[in-house]
Formats: sequence, structure tokens, C-alpha cells
Amino acid sequence: MAVRKKKIQNIKLVDFPEEVDEQNGIKVYGETSWENQLAVLSQYLHNNVYIGDEDSKQEIIYAIREFLERKKSNKDEEITDEYVIKVAENPIAYNLFSDFFKVPFPNPKFGQHTFIDLFAGIGGIRLPFNEMGYRCVFSSEWDKYAQQTYLANFGEMPFGDITKEVTKKYIPKHFDLLLAGFPCQAFSIMGKMQGFADIRGTMFFEVATILERHQPEAVLLENVKQLTTHDQGRTFSTILRILGELGYHVKWQVLNALDFGLPQKRERVIIVGFRSQQRCDAFNFDFKKKTYNLKEILEDDKDIDPSLFASDMILQKRQKQTEGKTVFYPSIWHENKAGNVSVLDYACALRTGASYNYLLVNGQRRLSSRELLRLQGFPDNYKIAVSHGEIRRQTGNSVAVPMIREIARKIDYILNNI
Ligand SMILES: C[S@@+](CC[C@H](N)C(=O)[O-])C[C@H]1O[C@@H](n2cnc3c(N)ncnc32)[C@H](O)[C@@H]1O
Repeated sequence: MAVRKKKIQNIKLVDFPEEVDEQNGIKVYGETSWENQLAVLSQYLHNNVYIGDEDSKQEIIYAIREFLERKKSNKDEEITDEYVIKVAENPIAYNLFSDFFKVPFPNPKFGQHTFIDLFAGIGGIRLPFNEMGYRCVFSSEWDKYAQQTYLANFGEMPFGDITKEVTKKYIPKHFDLLLAGFPCQAFSIMGKMQGFADIRGTMFFEVATILERHQPEAVLLENVKQLTTHDQGRTFSTILRILGELGYHVKWQVLNALDFGLPQKRERVIIVGFRSQQRCDAFNFDFKKKTYNLKEILEDDKDIDPSLFASDMILQKRQKQTEGKTVFYPSIWHENKAGNVSVLDYACALRTGASYNYLLVNGQRRLSSRELLRLQGFPDNYKIAVSHGEIRRQTGNSVAVPMIREIARKIDYILNNI
């Protein structure tokens, strides 16, 4: 779908009900924090399709004013209404917003197809679609560190909590594809649920609601493999049935990152749906297996931060745990919850909450931030904008990018040819 370009026209500044949130010291416009204003501003700069009504116009202007206030070098300088309006009318003409565009993965200017990125994390699902020229028209992710990583790489601040209507209101009416690696914490209740109304309170409900309201042509969902077997498969059947009720013909498959050229055993279920039966029929999960090579993702030990090397105590423990085992280099040593160690030429799935020492390169050290990103297939120009601890969490939550890339290519072929 071609992107509609609208300019802000006939701007008048109005007075907003402005409050100060005493506790956080942030300005609030209605229910909107500065982070939300940054989302409004950055998503407007990249893509202004959601500007429809007077309210959203005013919100953008308000966000621009706030941005200019924060950017000014002289605190006594007055930001006049006339200046704010001029900038808002043609923001790109002003050299104020270059940081939103000088990023490794800017949104394509004239994407033929559009998508929204829900539960966006650090954009692992988005990345291959951007590469193919697809244009993101809305993103949502509420974790502030993931937002920082996303902003640094895509020049776009995701909106926050997707369960809130104040967030969902920014989703443009039309887009072609919904992407979501939705969180799976609500499994415990989902199995007993039958219909659409019953799944309220789960993150899948948010996905279903947005599909119902916007009816994009295609959907791509990603989740842990256990989703397919939870509660004897009932949870998964509920999800598939609801997608069917919403008008989607779907196919699904459990895929393993190891088969996509990454040295990581990470099994995930992928669900792909189309409104057209014919398109769904044409889709398949046949991929040519690629080989992986652990050596390719490892950095030289001499470039590794010394704090990542394990203590003598851990090293001695590992020596004992691997007695009699074949040890080779390079390898990743895994300690499971029972304290057993295996030595493999790939990593087990990166996990957010796992112990710091559960994966050790050659039994000696933890993986660096860059290695963690490479294990998920992120290119080396992907920016690291947060601490190592946050990168561990973010990569553990993210996806195998090459796996998504292969699926994205198939979806693209189908949207363009069937
Ligand atoms: C499984 S991760 C998806 C990661 C993503 N696919 C990536 O490539 O990084 C789920 C994400 O959903 C976010 N999340 C959970 N609940 C949310 C909510 N109510 N609104 C927005 N984001 C939410 C979490 O912070 C987490 O980053």
C-alpha cells in the first residue's frame, strides 16, 4: 500500500491542559509523558500517516515545542509560537532532527508495504522487513531500555503500553502487516479460555483486538515452542481458532535458529496468516538448511572486557564438571539447572533470566554484547546503546533475525505475486 503523505496545514496553537507529574518531574499532556511525545515526534518525522484529526496535529506541535525547549542551548532563549509552527509545518527542512535519521536502519522513505511492530523489543522482527523496503507505521514497546536501543537503531521511539487505548489510538487505520513476538506470561490461564472475550487480559488479546479493528492483509506472530503444547495443545488451538474467526487463514511451524546459520539452538513457533485463502495456500515453511560456525560470531579474547572472564572458583568448578568429557575449541560450555555441563559447538537459547554463568565461551568467559547480538543474527552495524546487562536481557527476549528474514522474503513474494 502506498504511504499517504500529509503535511500539517493551517496550524493554530491552542492551550493544552498541562500538568506536572510531581513524582517523576515530567510534563504531562493529558496522559502523555515526554517518552510518549518522543514517540509522537519520531514516528511523525518518519511517517506521518496517523495525522488525521486536529488533536493529533496539536500533539505533534506540542511534542516539537517540547523538543525545541529541551534542545536549546541557552535556557533564556524564547521558543516562540511562530517558530514552533514554522518547524511543525516542514520539520525536515530544519536541521534539528537529524539524529532521528542518522541511524543504521532508518525507515524506508517510500515503502510499498506498511507494517506495525508490536512488542517490538529491539526490533529483531522489524529489521528484515525494513531491509526489504517495508515501512513501519507504528511501533510499541514499554521497556525503557529496549526503547533506547530501538531509538538508537531505527530513529524511532516506540509507543508504550499497548493494552492502553491512548497507545492504540496512534495505530493508523490502514497497514498491510502486523508483526508481534507477543509475551507468553499468560499461558497459565489461556488453555481454559474458549472465545475472543475469554482471552481478555492476555497479550494475544491485544493482537486479536488490533487485527479485528484494522484487518491488515497479513500477520506474523512469534512465540516460544511450548506455546504449541501448553495445556495439551488447548492454548494453541484457542489462538488458531480466534485467528480463524478474525478472518485469517494461517500456517504455523516450529523453527530452529540452528537451521538458519546461527550457532544457537533456539526453537520458536512462527504463525503466518493471510486474509486470502489463496495466499495462505501459497505460503510454506520450506527453507534450505544453512550451516553455522561458532567461530564466526566470536570476538578475540584479547578484545573482551576483563570483567566477562569467570572467577577462579567458577573455572575450577567447570574443570570438575567436565572431567572425562571431550573438550574442544571453540565451544560453548552450558551448565543446566541440575549442574550438568555440556560442551557444544553452539549456544543453547539465550534466556533473559538465566544465571550469568550458564554459557561460557571455551569454559572461560561470558559472551560479549556484540557476540550476544551476533548469536541472534543482528548485523555488526547494529548499535549498542545500553549496558551489557540490558543487552543480555534484550537479546534473550529477541529473535533469530535470519529466521525472520527467510519468512519475510516468503511473505513479500506472496504479497507481490499472489
Ligand atoms: C518476547 S519480547 C519480543 C522481542 C522482540 N521480538 C525483539 O526482537 O526484540 C516481548 C516484548 O514485549 C514487551 N511488552 C510486554 N508487555 C507490553 C505491553 N503491555 N506494551 C508494550 N510492550 C510490552 C516486553 O517489554 C518485551 O520487550
